[in-house]
Amino acid sequence: MTRIAHLTDLHLVERRPEARSWQDRLRIQTISQGRPIDSERPRRRLRRAFAEARAARADHVVVTGDLTEDGIPAQFEVLAEELHAAPFAPEQITLVPGNHDGYTSGDAFEKALAGPLAAFRVTSRPGTAVELKGATVVALSTTIHQHWLRAAGELGERQRRRIHDVLHARERRGATVLAMHHPPFTFGLRLGWLEGLLDLGFVRTMLRPFRSAHVLCGHVHERGDHRLGPARHARLHTAHSVAEDDRALRLYDAIDDRLVPSDGPVPFALAMRAFRQSALGEA
Ligand SMILES: [Fe+2]
Ligand SMILES: [Fe+2]
Repeated sequence: MTRIAHLTDLHLVERRPEARSWQDRLRIQTISQGRPIDSERPRRRLRRAFAEARAARADHVVVTGDLTEDGIPAQFEVLAEELHAAPFAPEQITLVPGNHDGYTSGDAFEKALAGPLAAFRVTSRPGTAVELKGATVVALSTTIHQHWLRAAGELGERQRRRIHDVLHARERRGATVLAMHHPPFTFGLRLGWLEGLLDLGFVRTMLRPFRSAHVLCGHVHERGDHRLGPARHARLHTAHSVAEDDRALRLYDAIDDRLVPSDGPVPFALAMRAFRQSALGEA
């Protein structure tokens, strides 16, 4: 059985944010919406979350965006330092970018994957599918270059086609885990253009029939479990922000073609299946 750890919204800040110009400080203070501009605290929380994921015997870690506070190269360097010190190999970590990672430039994440995050490129390049035992993790980017007063995202037609192809190829062969920052539901002020997923309707319609589809998201900074349709349809899971919460880590077990939160009730049939897998060595 594969166990997946889910972390999100790290909002990492460079080592010396006080060295910025006053205009830049004003910008980052506005973007952070009241989070302290502190280099150390989010790093400490990230280290603790990685240690907890290791102790929980997670096989793979998915980090669903807002990796940095405003996407400057120095913040991606801080992220790379933390990831290289984490108790997981680079091939055990999938990263996806969020709206904050695109505030300085639209291709900041791609540049980081070619630079300090190069070791994570093989599992994190948007569109990549990572095959695990009983689950496939697909890295997706919803980042668009936009003004920092806006927080929207979009998958776009190419990535939607990619998801469709993976879901069809993987049907009945384990859970498909779609890692993306913006959740495909309406939330908050329900102002999709301002802070939501722009192609929400397309994505929900595409995912709904697939019971093996599980979307791991960030952005809302809240833990939640949602269905995209009736009982046997796609599901999505959100988590607290690592930057803001000491209990941000979520864990899920891949059982059959489902991803089951280990902090929630496990349906009896799936519990029996998990028991047979671990005790009797069934595939
Ligand atoms: Fe965030
Ligand atoms: Fe976000």
